[in-house]
Amino acid sequence: MRPSSFWVILKDSSSFFGRRKGKPLRAHQDELVRDLLPTLRVSGADVAAGAAFAPDLTGERWLEIGFGGGEHLARMAELHPKDRFIGCEVFLNGVAKLLAAVESRQLTNIRLFDEDAARLLADLPGACIDRICILYPDPWPKFRQRKRRFISPENIEKLARVLRPGGELRFATDIDDYAGWALSLMIKSELFDWRGASPDDWSHPWPDWASTRYEIKARAAGRATSYLTFIRRS
Ligand SMILES: C[S@@+](CC[C@H](N)C(=O)[O-])C[C@H]1O[C@@H](n2cnc3c(N)ncnc32)[C@H](O)[C@@H]1O
Repeated sequence: MRPSSFWVILKDSSSFFGRRKGKPLRAHQDELVRDLLPTLRVSGADVAAGAAFAPDLTGERWLEIGFGGGEHLARMAELHPKDRFIGCEVFLNGVAKLLAAVESRQLTNIRLFDEDAARLLADLPGACIDRICILYPDPWPKFRQRKRRFISPENIEKLARVLRPGGELRFATDIDDYAGWALSLMIKSELFDWRGASPDDWSHPWPDWASTRYEIKARAAGRATSYLTFIRRS
């Protein structure tokens, strides 16, 4: 770990265990956090009032939880300019990277929630999201750490509440044990159906897929990814 890294293990939060800040931001990243972030940030109150998304757009409403450096979120926003996106990430250095993409690609359809996703899920009105993406969530591989995983019975209920009936949850992980864990909990919840379009459906990404920093790391380490699609039951 770099000496400048700042780790915080948040024991008071229901679903975030990790670091909020890494190495110092570069000067322009600092400017983006100071000037651009406040224009894109939505608070819990905004979210609860139904103002989570960019106004004047009527396309699908996407939520990406734990977007990391924002590679996938920025690409989806670019590919689907009429759709509305809310990205949730607590790691400031990741938020700063996404802000740089928003600026350089002039994206106008992204809003940001830079606090714990469990809080966002609690504040969002019911059935207000068309698609949720959870890509390479922290795997917490040790047995005793599994309760920190974002996919849990409690969070599955929260995800189901905000997703409209027929809406889609995209989940990707390179950790086989997490894929099996997520699949069994989601099926057991009876709130979602797993959409396996073909026997090896889980081994292919979605047609509009954009690779992420963690996917690149996983491939370099020789780990394949499971791409699981769940549909919210009516
Ligand atoms: C392993 S990284 C993956 C990042 C990115 N999705 C990718 O594929 O490159 C997981 C990310 O989820 C974020 N995260 C974890 N728990 C979170 C929570 N409760 N709310 C918001 N973000 C969270 C972490 O800060 C981290 O950036």
